[in-house]
Amino acid sequence: MRPQEDAERSRKNPAGGRPASGRGDTGLLPPQRRARGAGRARTRRARTATAPTTAPALSPAALAAPIPAGPAASEPSAPNLPDWLIGPCLETASRLPRGIARLVYLDPPFLTGRPRVGPARSGAADARASTAADRYVFDDRWPGRLATYLPWLEANLRALLPLLMPGGSLVLHLDARTVHYAKVLLDWLMGEQAFINEIIWHYTGGGRSKTRFSNKHDTLLWYATGPRPVFNVDAVRVPYQPTSGYARSGIVSAAGRRYLPHPAGTPVDDVWDIPIVNPMSAERVGYPTQKPLALLERLIAALTNPGDLVVDLFCGSGTTLVAAARLGRRWVGGDRSPAAIACARRRMETLGS
Ligand SMILES: C[S@@+](CC[C@H](N)C(=O)[O-])C[C@H]1O[C@@H](n2cnc3c(N)ncnc32)[C@H](O)[C@@H]1O
Repeated sequence: MRPQEDAERSRKNPAGGRPASGRGDTGLLPPQRRARGAGRARTRRARTATAPTTAPALSPAALAAPIPAGPAASEPSAPNLPDWLIGPCLETASRLPRGIARLVYLDPPFLTGRPRVGPARSGAADARASTAADRYVFDDRWPGRLATYLPWLEANLRALLPLLMPGGSLVLHLDARTVHYAKVLLDWLMGEQAFINEIIWHYTGGGRSKTRFSNKHDTLLWYATGPRPVFNVDAVRVPYQPTSGYARSGIVSAAGRRYLPHPAGTPVDDVWDIPIVNPMSAERVGYPTQKPLALLERLIAALTNPGDLVVDLFCGSGTTLVAAARLGRRWVGGDRSPAAIACARRRMETLGS
């Protein structure tokens, strides 16, 4: 299915088969999409609520009424969950029980405007993926660009949010093309108090621009459904700077109290330097946009406990699921592309070997 078909589906069924919050659209959309896609009353509301500029029509009242998490599943370990779900997230999310996930991670298409084809398509990286039926590719072209992408993203987020347990976390992974719209969208959907961190994943490698500053980061937005989400600070400490005097001898406060360095290092901050999966990397499977295991392992180790359920319905090559399994978390993986699921399955099958 092309993005525009999925976008059309999201327009017709904005909550992915689940009841919508009843709060209408976000006001984030360009006026022409509102006029075409929304009903007359909604259009009138959007017009009156929209400032002369294209600023989002966000009212404090809307921000104060977030979509609640789904009720906790009666059987928290939900033994009958499927491992794999093939299909658009709008459909697959509705096949899962509500309130089951400690972490919902999504790394959706980024609105690059390009079909995404990995080296595996030419057979360079993974001979098993060289047949036409098994190409690693997804389409990231959006006619109308933001006007189709944002309603699609909103519909998918609405479908995913009920999967979160109370105290669960949602992490949305995007880049500078769309993350600022997505931040406003999530503030609106979950409530601004649900926002916890904007994590900058900074990477090196790849080409450098000579006409502007090179784009070398993605952004991960972390939101939580309750005031005390899991945060395992000690699981994700990083080494102190070599120049740190505190790391050598700690400090003594004015009151004479001594603070010693932690043997595992310092708590990690919100800028993460993690290399991309480069062409020589052992973990590379040839899937376009494959994310590094180190990124997902840090996220999952910090935001979930062993045994918790991690859901990724845009799983691509399955990095999230591999990371979850390696850390002793349960997982459910989904993707619209059967080739992606085949790739992710293969990775999971070789995990134990
Ligand atoms: C950026 S990639 C994910 C990469 C993944 N995190 C990894 O490490 O390999 C986005 C994925 O979303 C999938 N996708 C696109 N639209 C989708 C939809 N509507 N529902 C589910 N999956 C979708 C694509 O097939 C692609 O595999």
